[in-house]
Amino acid sequence: MSRKYNFCAGPSALPFEVLNDLKTELLDWQGHGLSTMEMSHRSKEFVEIAETAKQDFIDLLEVSDDYEVLFIQGGASLQFSMVPMNLLDDQNSICDYLDVGQWSIKAIKEAKKYGNVNIAASSAEASYKKYPSPESWKLSENSKFTHLVVNETIDGVCLKDLNNLPQTNLVADCSSCILSEPLDVSKFGIIYAGAQKNIGPAGLAIIIIKKDLLRDKPNLPAMMSYKTYADSDSMYNTPPTFAWYLSGMVFKWLKNNGGLMNRKLINESKAKKLYSYIDESGFYMNDVDVNSRSIMNVPFLLNDDSLDSRFLSESEEAGLLNLGGHRSVGGMRASIYNAVSEEAVDALIDFMKDFSNKNG
Ligand SMILES: Cc1ncc(COP(=O)(O)O)c(C=O)c1O
Repeated sequence: MSRKYNFCAGPSALPFEVLNDLKTELLDWQGHGLSTMEMSHRSKEFVEIAETAKQDFIDLLEVSDDYEVLFIQGGASLQFSMVPMNLLDDQNSICDYLDVGQWSIKAIKEAKKYGNVNIAASSAEASYKKYPSPESWKLSENSKFTHLVVNETIDGVCLKDLNNLPQTNLVADCSSCILSEPLDVSKFGIIYAGAQKNIGPAGLAIIIIKKDLLRDKPNLPAMMSYKTYADSDSMYNTPPTFAWYLSGMVFKWLKNNGGLMNRKLINESKAKKLYSYIDESGFYMNDVDVNSRSIMNVPFLLNDDSLDSRFLSESEEAGLLNLGGHRSVGGMRASIYNAVSEEAVDALIDFMKDFSNKNG
């Protein structure tokens, strides 16, 4: 077996130790004679797996009792609809959105179907390369909530300083930054994240929602209502049991490896190395405002884009997978989520140096 270094933006690398443990217990979970995929979600065993995973997630992010943690299928994209469907009263209800990249645009498109969307700030004119600072956001009066994508995965742009956020009902898409560092949950009304980057298998999303935002809305389909999930421990219907179980294994791995404070140190060190090399190389470049650079997604361009396809094929041959940028922007992107080791980043930098020596 030879595992390569995977820089995919999602679905992304999973910790090797977790995959190894999974292999051990895949056919026979802890001597019960079946895999977790084959268990009833109502069984004592699975309920314990589910509750432990939820508690570990709560411990990692220090989520207080004021919040519910929900496990919902449909990925982060379903949340683009569920948020406005649950929080707005009718088409006249006002909500604020930040337009900071392509995931924001998708969220805005959905919200417009359910309410009156005010764009509180946009970085479109800066080609989405700079996150608008909270002081510049123009929030509406009577807004039901303010939606932001904290880390825009495609352009590698993020809101770094979450200390001075406005005291409104903040709804944050943290799909590509959740669990990468500690987060003060109390600043938010809702935090949601698709699982396939720092959590586990694709298809699942985890939602942290303040209890006072759970509403009975009689006309809302049951499966679209946060309250349905909160009232049923996210088991109103059959949940994505395998994704839930594997996510729980990732949470244990994080806890056993120094929690989120340690993750922050490792992630910052990986990102610093990579950005420093790109900046000094003269061969590669990253055009994101330095104060908005993501520590999870590092897009970069080759000064000579005619070398792009050679870079991609040779990097793949060297065992460095999925370095192509998003299909909408091209170039390169290294996603260096939690499970991408420091060693993987070193290997990438070595390859980049070598490629620039040969082609520069
Ligand atoms: C920031 C962000 N939001 C939303 C999504 C959509 O997630 P999903 O494919 O789980 O619906 C992604 C996917 O990459 C993302 O990066």
